[in-house]
Amino acid sequence: MREGYEGTGPGAITPDGCAVELYARLTAGDEPDIIEAAVPAGARILELGCGVGRMTHPLLERGFTVTAVDESAEMLERVRGARTLRGAIEGLDLGEKFDVVLLASFLVHTGDAEVRRGMLRTCVTHVAEGGCVLIQREGADYHAKVPRERADPGGYTVRIVSAEPVGDGVNSVRAEYEFPDATWTQTFLARPLTEEQFEEALAEAGLEVAEYLTEDGTWARAVPTA
Ligand SMILES: C[S@@+](CC[C@H](N)C(=O)[O-])C[C@H]1O[C@@H](n2cnc3c(N)ncnc32)[C@H](O)[C@@H]1O
Repeated sequence: MREGYEGTGPGAITPDGCAVELYARLTAGDEPDIIEAAVPAGARILELGCGVGRMTHPLLERGFTVTAVDESAEMLERVRGARTLRGAIEGLDLGEKFDVVLLASFLVHTGDAEVRRGMLRTCVTHVAEGGCVLIQREGADYHAKVPRERADPGGYTVRIVSAEPVGDGVNSVRAEYEFPDATWTQTFLARPLTEEQFEEALAEAGLEVAEYLTEDGTWARAVPTA
């Protein structure tokens, strides 16, 4: 387990505290719709941090080709119908370009700024000319409005229990997922980024926001800086 990261609950837990069984149960929500609306039909997508394929599978069903990357073999074993690659996002160098690079699940907020730089570098080096990078970021109140909870139509409750500063602008966040028959928790390090800080981080990597895809600003379509 990575320092500052922890997961509890049934089944395998990844180095960043995610539970494989939990991710196999979570619904995809509106995320595939947001992605589909933002990219050309049939695009070749490089999905970074794909987990069990919660978003991969709906994207394949919609006619996209997906190369799915994750550092967890247990997560990747659950992915069906996509080319899968195991490895660290920040060290990825496939020597290939994709129409779309997808960096979702707030990975851009990773506590380690060097890892974030590496992840954004991977996005830039793998996006084809004329292509785009889709990034999912935290909403404005993500760290401020705690504790909070949301009942998912899938029959479970998601709670952000706490977000406590641990220094260097990083918070330790504790999340809880309660199902009728099981509960999982994840503790992870996240660096809050205002819109300005987010755009600065992208600029540093050679990316600029072309548009925010959702009203809450949590999904951005970015392109390499001209
Ligand atoms: C919160 S889960 C989200 C999975 C998937 N994107 C989803 O929405 O269901 C994060 C995933 O990213 C993977 N991950 C986290 N940091 C990573 C890194 N630096 N390199 C490769 N995979 C990573 C974890 O193993 C985990 O499967």
